[in-house]
This record gives sequence, C-alpha cells and structure tokens, in this order.
Amino acid sequence: MAADALAELAKRRGFFFGSNGAYGGTAGFYTFGPQGAALKRNVEDAWRDRFTIREGNREIEAPTVMPEPVFEASGHLEGFDDMLVECPECGESHRADHLVEAVTDIEDAEALPGEEVAELIADNDIACPACGTPLAGEPVEAFNLMFATDIGPGDAQPGYLRPETAQGIFVEFPRLKEYARGNLPFGITQIGPAYRNEISPRGGLLRLREFTQAELEQFIDPEEDEPPLDRVADVEVRLYPATEQEAADGDYLDTTVGEAVDEGVIGSPWVGYYLGVAQEWYERVGVDTDRFRFRQHLAGERAHYAADCWDAESEVDGDWIEIAGFAYRGDYDLSKHDEHGDDSFTVFKRYDEPKTVERAAVDPDMSVLGPEFGGDAAAVAEALEALAERDPDAFDAETVSVEIGDGDDAAVHEVDVDVANFAVEEVTENGEHITPHVVEPSFGVGRTVQTVLAHAYETDEVDGEERTYLSLEPEVAPQDAAVFPLVTNDDRLTDLADEVAADLRAAGLAVAYDDSGSIGRRYRRQDEVGTPFCVTVDRDGIEGDGPDTVTLRERDSAAQVRVLVADLADELTALREG
Ligand code: GAP
Repeated sequence: MAADALAELAKRRGFFFGSNGAYGGTAGFYTFGPQGAALKRNVEDAWRDRFTIREGNREIEAPTVMPEPVFEASGHLEGFDDMLVECPECGESHRADHLVEAVTDIEDAEALPGEEVAELIADNDIACPACGTPLAGEPVEAFNLMFATDIGPGDAQPGYLRPETAQGIFVEFPRLKEYARGNLPFGITQIGPAYRNEISPRGGLLRLREFTQAELEQFIDPEEDEPPLDRVADVEVRLYPATEQEAADGDYLDTTVGEAVDEGVIGSPWVGYYLGVAQEWYERVGVDTDRFRFRQHLAGERAHYAADCWDAESEVDGDWIEIAGFAYRGDYDLSKHDEHGDDSFTVFKRYDEPKTVERAAVDPDMSVLGPEFGGDAAAVAEALEALAERDPDAFDAETVSVEIGDGDDAAVHEVDVDVANFAVEEVTENGEHITPHVVEPSFGVGRTVQTVLAHAYETDEVDGEERTYLSLEPEVAPQDAAVFPLVTNDDRLTDLADEVAADLRAAGLAVAYDDSGSIGRRYRRQDEVGTPFCVTVDRDGIEGDGPDTVTLRERDSAAQVRVLVADLADELTALREG
C-alpha cells in the first residue's frame, strides 16, 4: 500500500486532512473528519477500557497550559530540544540528525553532540532538501520544542502548552496520592492533546505539532510492588533489544513476556507487564503483529528522565515508526517536583513493625557554638540533625564535621560535641517517606490510528471489479453498519430501511444510511471506510407471510446471509463485541 493512496483515501472519505486549507494550510496540524474522529474515539475508548478500567486505574483531565516552573522542574525547559540546521539560502529549517541518518548508517544521530552532527553534514556533502544549497559550515543548534504562551494580561506569567500529558499527572501527585489513600501501587491515566513545535512535521499523523497522547503513570514502591505478571507471562512478543541492535548480525528475539523478564532481557517486570498488555491491545484494535515489534532504546537515545525504555514500533509503508514508549522513569519526576514545588511528592511507607532509631535531639539555641556560624543556630542544628540521621556514631568523637550552606557558600565546620548542645536519643518510628517510582506506557493515538488504517488497507476483486476496503476491527470501525433500501421507488422498502436504521441507532449502534447510486457503489463506499456490515432491505425480505428479513453482508468476505429484522440489533451488537 502506497502512503499516497491511503492519504488520498483518508482525505476523500473524511478520515483526516491538513488543517486550515482555506488559509494555505498549517504544517503539523491535522483535522479528523467524521470517519476519522469516530475511529480515533473508538481507539481511545478501547485504550481506556484496557489501560484504565480493566487495570483498576483512574483517569484525570488536566489543563493543557502549564506555568513555567513546572517545566523548569521537569527538565523540559532545559533539555526538550531537537537539533536544528537552517538553510542559509531559503531559510528552511531541518532536523539536522534526520538529515545525517538519511545518508549514513548512523541510526541515532540525536545522541551525538551538535558539533559532531555539523561535521557529518559537511563530510557527507548534505544539501538543503528544499532548495539544494549545501549545508556545510552551518551551525547545528538546539531548538526547544515547547510552544510558549503568556498566562494572563500585563505582567503575565510565562506558560507553555504541555509537551506530554504526563506532567499534568505528576504535578497533581500530592492530591492524587490522597485519593489513593497513600497506598502504592496506583495508576493514573490521561488521554488528551500534547503540543510540540516540531522542526519538520511529517506527512499524515506521524509527526504533528498538536497530537493526542494516551498515557498511564504507574506509581510503585520499587522495593515492594510487583505487577501481576502471570496474567501476560504467555503473551508472545517480538523484541529487538539494544544488544541485538548493536550486534553486527543482530536479530529479533521472538519470546514470551514471562521468559523475557525471567532472563533479564526486559529489566523491569512492570515494563514487561505493560509490554504484554500492549501487545494484546494492539492486536485487539487491528495492528498486524507481523508488522509490529518492541525495540529497546539505545543508551544515548533515552529521554532525560528514562532509566530504560522500549518503544512499540509498527511498520508502515516500509518504515518502522514509534507508536508508543514504555519508560522506567524511576523517581526522576516526583523528586524534581518535590524539590521545586511547595507540596510533598512522597508517600509515607508504614513499617510492618515499628523501628527504634537514634536521632539527634538538638538544642535550638546554638549561639554558644561561636561567631564562626554567624549566629545561625538553626542551620547548625539542621546540619547536626542530618548528620545524626546518617551517622549517629559520629557523635562518639569530641568534635564532628558539619557542612553548612549551599553551593559556593558551603563550608565545613568542626563542632564541639557538647552534651549541653545536643544529645543522641532513641526514637520509635512507624515508617518513612519514600518517593515512588514511575513506569510509563505512553501511546500516540494518531500514530495508532495511522497504523490501524495502514494495516487494514486491502485491495481485492469482487464480482469482477477491483475494490479497496479497510479491514478494520468492528470495535474501532467508524460505523457499525450501513442500511440501504435496495431501490428508492418503493415506499415499503424505504420506509422499512428508515425504521431499521432508527432501531439500530436506538440500540446504540453507529449506522449510516445510503440510498444513492447502485447497490454495488454503496457497498464500495462502505468498504472504503471499513464499515463491517451492510444491511440491505429488499422485496424478498418483506413479501410472503413470514416476518420481515434483510440481507446482512460482511465486508471482508462480501458474503451475505438473511437475518430477521427483529434479531438484527442483537446480532450486530454481538458481532461488534466479537
Ligand atoms: N510522556 C512520555 C512521552 O511523551 P514520547 O516518546 O515523547 O514520550 C509518546 O511520546 C508517544 O507520543 C510517541 O510514542 C508517539 O506515538 C507520540 N508522539 C510523540 N511526538 C509526536 C508527534 N510530534 N506527533 C505525533 N505523535 C507523537
């Protein structure tokens, strides 16, 4: 299937098309038409069913605009960059790493320093794809992908459109942990738009500037919590581990989730668990498993927050595209927000049995310690307390060393051990504050939609004529059925067809009605949008003494059966649910 054929069908039949065409179009923005919006919604509903409801997780909906400090803390302000090279002649901007990857065997140029990428551009005589001007000697710069905005008028607060839905979950952790009554593990999901000012948006839904993500943040205690791995242990997966990618003759590893976790190919059981869940989910929505794999990130490729990451990749038009990422984010996000935010991003972990520990009890009036501390008794007390927590034995000596102040102001002081100033005492503790770790399955909804369409695109011959059809899974197809009166000059047929369509809609099915053109053309129209069943009201079905019947045609086989009108809604509902 050529990408052009799918793009043409997507536009002609109302799946998706470039936005703002009346104003020349805006690269990186796509509008979902009636068919595409329904398909996308069905994919989202299937995701919600699997990753939220069936996992016992909870979904939230956070704002898409967030204030600057959030992204200072998350690291996006500092490090959410792509490599940009600008053509000196036509001014077109390009992803420098992609230009290099296209003409060398380097697969991950993004991991290289900018100067090295600039050298590779010169060494390989790379020219501007738009106008052919050589790009040798042009600087490669870091370009931050976030869209900036102002929150409010006047001395507005700087803000950004969120580049991932995840941050909307992390910043609300102090409240979300309360809803979970402080108990780990728990998972929070969110489906919604994310924004990245991509340097070079790509055709179709693959690299957009506004796109939909479906993300799950699974909060765990890394020392205690285990996933229910046995539920997916037998799920077969095709893995492409980093070691295989690095080996000269590297190959896929066809295995099961259970084996891959047991053998340490997938380091985190939680990541393994969600790869298994995802494998089953992708099959459910119609991704062809022969054109699907999980690829582990190479060390230099991982995002700033990820300790390990696997991508779900699908083959579309000869290229492998990343459709989801499964990252072990560790405590990166919650620690950063804990450090920068005003609330606590830890949870209290209760011990099975209370523990007795030694703590420093410090006299807050430490001025007796002398002027070298600038009278900052509180700072000394805090430093001593921290030391006592780390090393109570330190107080057996006559003096102890404590560090006071931060950064350049930090100084180590020898403090006399004087029982008048502090003492070590035993206290009983019931638990401790820990920072949960995060495992994050993060799906691109548009890329899933594009994959589902590409993998469903089929051509064959029916009644001697070539036809194109989308072999979409009934659960995600934009319409459940289409209803046709065989002819339009017989009121008995048109009336019954109207009635059948109304009854099916009342039963909650998405039903198209079409009475224009030959019946063959009407079938072809529905085949092209992937409608799994067509219902035709004909004279044979209403004449005679028996109850009314209609023909029910299945899309892929084009086979037809006769069904009682009275049973139709139940039959179609059962077929939709598989
Ligand atoms: N919270 C983690 C995160 O955002 P990511 O790998 O940057 O991770 C997750 O994005 C998914 O979002 C990707 O696997 C991809 O499917 C989708 N995605 C990312 N950038 C995109 C873009 N510019 N256009 C369309 N989809 C995109």
